[in-house]
Amino acid sequence: MSTQGQILAGFLAPHPPHLVYGENPPQNEPRSRGGWENLRWAYERARRSLERLKPDVLLVHSPHWMTQVGHHFLGVRHLAGKSVDPIFPNLFRYNFELEVDVELAEACCAEAREVGLVGKMMRNPNFRVDYGTITTLHMIRPQWDIPVVGISANNSPYYLSTEEGLEEMDRLGKATRRAIEKLGRRAVLLASNTLCHWHFHEEPEIPEDMSREHPQNYEGYLWDMRIIELLRQGKTREVFELLPTFIQEAFAEVKSGAFTWMFSAMGYPELPGELHGYGTVIGTGNAVMEWDLTARA
Ligand SMILES: [Fe+2]
Repeated sequence: MSTQGQILAGFLAPHPPHLVYGENPPQNEPRSRGGWENLRWAYERARRSLERLKPDVLLVHSPHWMTQVGHHFLGVRHLAGKSVDPIFPNLFRYNFELEVDVELAEACCAEAREVGLVGKMMRNPNFRVDYGTITTLHMIRPQWDIPVVGISANNSPYYLSTEEGLEEMDRLGKATRRAIEKLGRRAVLLASNTLCHWHFHEEPEIPEDMSREHPQNYEGYLWDMRIIELLRQGKTREVFELLPTFIQEAFAEVKSGAFTWMFSAMGYPELPGELHGYGTVIGTGNAVMEWDLTARA
């Protein structure tokens, strides 16, 4: 008997490379004296949930794998190389090695085409996986022992309107869900997004000097608190009604689509999200949150 595939949980799992830098894993070249502990401890709690869920696969949608034409999917079984953050090469030069669930990636791509999206498999064996994908995956599962599906962020919310672009992400989410169910995978979704994205333009001399870390913008901070409070109450519909205004006023990175993709795939559950922690990184607002669909009666 084949098991029915399902989405076990979704995580809001932001990707500031500073978090990896603060952890000093052997894969990352630069060394730090710590920093951004609130968020790193938040990820530690999220890791414990992931350990309990035991998924077959992690799917991640990253704003820093930008594709102009269509939605792309990692399509090479084994990928290895060095991922460098172009903005913070002083903090993130990470030697990655990962396994891709190519069968599921191909199914996601096929289902995306089925709902009228442009889908494309990425088959370059020397592809450098972007720092957003790597940071989110490292922070949630530093053991790297669960296969992944990497999904690009098509630029549609930027060259179309926010609403039109996010409508595409909604379709991408539904397609992703169908692929997971068809293939019988037990999947966890990762939305690699920061909330308020107003940031400082200068880095302190010691990047991990936490006496310099705080929200860059008070209005943006208030927006983050409003959105997080609604998510904690399970008021998903209200969050999505507010989303375009939030994006505009807080310059929120959820514009790039991961958050909408994940909620669409989960069926926009009116389920209280568990906040593992919140913190700023160069002034931007970051929340690590979890929606455990297996906990639903
Ligand atoms: Fe980002």
